[in-house]
Amino acid sequence: MGQVYIEELSQHVGQEVTIKGWVYNKRSSGKIQFILVRDGTGIVQGVLVKSEVSPEVFALAKELTQESSIIVKGIVRADERAPGGYELTLTDVELVHRAEEYPITPKEHGIEFLMDHRHLWLRSRRQHAVMRVRSEIVKAIRDFFDDRGFLLIDAPLLTPAACEGTTTLFETDYFDEKAYLTQSGQLYMEAAAMAFGKVYCFGPTFRAEKSKTRRHLMEFWMVEPEVAYADHEDNMRLQEDLICYIVQRVLERRRKELEVLERDISRLENVVKPFPRITYDEAIEILRKEGVDIEWGADFGGGDETILAEKFDRPVFVEKYPAEVKAFYMKPDPERPEVVLCDDLLAPEGYGEIIGGSQRIDDLELLKQRMEQHNLPEEVYAWYMDLRRYGSVPHSGFGLGLERTVAWICGLSHVRETIPFPRLLNRLYP
Ligand code: 4AD
Ligand code: MG
Repeated sequence: MGQVYIEELSQHVGQEVTIKGWVYNKRSSGKIQFILVRDGTGIVQGVLVKSEVSPEVFALAKELTQESSIIVKGIVRADERAPGGYELTLTDVELVHRAEEYPITPKEHGIEFLMDHRHLWLRSRRQHAVMRVRSEIVKAIRDFFDDRGFLLIDAPLLTPAACEGTTTLFETDYFDEKAYLTQSGQLYMEAAAMAFGKVYCFGPTFRAEKSKTRRHLMEFWMVEPEVAYADHEDNMRLQEDLICYIVQRVLERRRKELEVLERDISRLENVVKPFPRITYDEAIEILRKEGVDIEWGADFGGGDETILAEKFDRPVFVEKYPAEVKAFYMKPDPERPEVVLCDDLLAPEGYGEIIGGSQRIDDLELLKQRMEQHNLPEEVYAWYMDLRRYGSVPHSGFGLGLERTVAWICGLSHVRETIPFPRLLNRLYP
C-alpha cells in the first residue's frame, strides 16, 4: 500500500501502509519503542519491536526528536484502547529531517510564549480541533447561503471611506490618495443586493480598535448577507436560522473536536429556535437591576453584554438601540424615531455580541441628514447615495463575526486561538 492518511486507517486494517508525517511524542521501554506519529489528519501510535526490525531502524528510532519528520511503514491493527482506535505495528522508519530541540514541549507554557510560537503551536492537538471547527463553520456558512439562493459577491478590501465610524480605520497610501482597509463590506453589499436581490460577502475586515479584550482582533473575518425587500423582522429570522444551522453542523460533523476541547455539548444542543428577544430598553432595565450604573442612551460594554447573555440559555436578540450609539445607515423605527431597527445577537455563556444587523435607511434625504450628523464627506459616498436614487427599496442585512462564533462554539476564553495568525493590539508577529 502506498501513502495513506491517518484519518483513513479504518479502511486499511491488516494491511501494510506508509504514513508520512512528524513525531508527535515518543516513549520507550527498552525492547519496544512507541512513536506517536501525526500527519495533519490525526495521530496514531506506532509500535516498534526490537526483535522485528533491523538494528539500524531500531537505533534510528531511538534518536528521533519531537517534530522530526519521518516516513513510517506499518501494519494497521484495530485496537480499542488506542487513541483513534488504530495502532501501527511498525516495519520501517525513515528519517526525513531531524528536528532541533522543539520549543513547545508537552509541559505547560505561558500564553505569550505560545503566541510567539504560533507557527509551531498550530501543530498541537487542541489547535487542530479549533482550526477544524473553524473550517467547518466557514463551510456551513457558505452552504447555508448558497443553498438559499444567495449570490457570493466579494467586497473590496481597500476602500475610500468608512462604514463603521472613522475612529477605527487603518489608513494606507493609495498612490496620491488615502485608502482604508475595509471595516465591513456592507455598503458594497447594499449595491449588490439592488443588483442581485440576495447576496453575501465573506472575507477579512479590519478595525484599528485600541481594545485589548478577549473579543477584539484587529483583523477578523465577517460574513455579511444583504437582502433587498427584507425588513428588520426578516433579518432576525435569517440570523436565527443561520446560527441554528451552524451549531447543528458542528454537532454533526465535529463532535470529536468538541470533545478534545472539552466543550459542554449540552449547552450547544440548547441552541434552537426561537431565540428570546429583548429591546434595548429592557436590557437597560436588566442591567440596572444587576446594579450596573447605566443611563438610557449609553452603548453596552463587553461586561454589560456578558451580564445580559448570561440571563439566557441560548442566543438572545437585543433590538432597537438608540440611534446615537449606532452607525449612520440604520433606519429609524417609524413608531419611535429615536431608536433604530437594528439588532445585536448575544451568544450565551457570557460570550456577548456575535452579530450586528439592521434595516438600512432607504430614503435619500434622511441618509443625507445622517451623513451630515456623522461628518461623512458626501463625495466618497456619492455612489452609495445613488442606491437611494435609482429604485430604492427597504433592505436589511447583518454581519456575523467568524472568530467570536468559533470562540463561543469551541468554548474558548479568548478569540486569539480562533484564527491561525491573530492580529492583536500588541501583536503583528508571527
Ligand atoms: O457590529 P459590527 O460592527 O457590524 C458591522 O460591521 C455591519 N456593517 C455588519 C452588517 O450589517 N453588514 O460587526 C459585526 C460583527 C460583530 O457582531 C462581531 O461579531 C464582529 O463583527 N466584530 C469583531 N470580531 C472580532 N474583533 C473585532 N474587533 C470585531 N468587531 C466586530
Ligand atoms: Mg456591533
